[in-house]
Amino acid sequence: MHAVIDKAQLSPNVTRLVIEAPCIAEIRKPGQFVIVHRAPGAERIPLTIADADADRGTITLVIQAVGKSTEDLVALRPGDTIADVAGPLGKATELIDHGRAVCVGGGVGTAVVHPIALGLAARGVEVISVIGGRSKEWVIFEDELRRAGEVITCTDDGSYGRHGFVTDALRDVIEAGGVDAVYAVGPVPMMRAVAEVTRPYGVPTFASLNAIMLDGTGMCGGCRVAVGGKTLYACVDGPEFDAHQVDFRELADRLGTYREFEAHATEVAHRRRAAAQEDAADAVGGTCLIPGLATTTERQEAAAAAGDRRE
Ligand SMILES: Cc1cc2nc3c(=O)[nH]c(=O)nc-3n(C[C@H](O)[C@H](O)[C@H](O)COP(=O)(O)OP(=O)(O)OC[C@H]3O[C@@H](n4cnc5c(N)ncnc54)[C@H](O)[C@@H]3O)c2cc1C
Ligand code: FES
Repeated sequence: MHAVIDKAQLSPNVTRLVIEAPCIAEIRKPGQFVIVHRAPGAERIPLTIADADADRGTITLVIQAVGKSTEDLVALRPGDTIADVAGPLGKATELIDHGRAVCVGGGVGTAVVHPIALGLAARGVEVISVIGGRSKEWVIFEDELRRAGEVITCTDDGSYGRHGFVTDALRDVIEAGGVDAVYAVGPVPMMRAVAEVTRPYGVPTFASLNAIMLDGTGMCGGCRVAVGGKTLYACVDGPEFDAHQVDFRELADRLGTYREFEAHATEVAHRRRAAAQEDAADAVGGTCLIPGLATTTERQEAAAAAGDRRE
């Protein structure tokens, strides 16, 4: 069992959970991930180790709620437990050891690129992070990345930082010269666009592929990706690969394989959650759940007050 130690909301659908996992915290390296199994019967999902504190015995997961399993995880509170956390899995990032690197993060990918940026900075590499979000409220991990070096923040709507996509800012940095490597983590279209920006300049570029994973140990074949005409497994051969060699179209197709099933699972989970809320309200006196009243005591007091008013 792994206790949730701390929780924070970073953007409208991104949550940071700090959880107890001393063995993983001790040996994890930048780029590695864990497979999280919240409870018996739950799905196993891969999540990157965004940070770790070996002294406290904790790892940090940054989770974007996109479906049933991620919504269930972000609903956990400090003191709750997660049944299994397996890892660290995957190969550590191939970090360059001198020169200048650009770390590009989009959305929750900004948290995923964070340990890579810190790992590079620890080797003496000059790091420029180029991060982006739809608008200001979606930008995450800016302060954390400043620990590694300069940060260029972009928003699609111009509400914060530079107006435009991360690829526009990346192009300017590359044109200024002296970039030895680019590390990109984010949605598939973003990573594909980064690869197209760097290709003409011949800058080595690594993309962290978010293929669908089941066991995370190379046994099921679920996470296979095409790289340079070869079939590789993202969980054991990656998750990072040469972005100029990745078949991003196939990756995008494979990510959509279970879309209908996932949409159904999310819908069923939403219905169950709504029914459970109604039951809880019934149990405290027949009032509807009053938004903003989180604890049972608060709901009981509100229900009692409503009852008083009815009498
Ligand atoms: C190596 C790796 C590291 C990742 N790190 C992070 C992270 O740090 N933070 C984060 O928010 N997300 C991360 N992801 C993505 C995360 O695993 C998926 O968002 C999650 O599994 C979705 O599950 P769901 O039930 O909530 O959503 P669903 O509704 O089941 O799926 C939503 C979408 O998530 C993807 N997905 C679904 N199941 C899986 C699966 N078993 N494995 C991978 N992708 C899946 C598919 O694209 C799918 O369309 C990572 C993925 C990989 C492969
Ligand atoms: S997740 Fe099963 S082979 Fe990679």
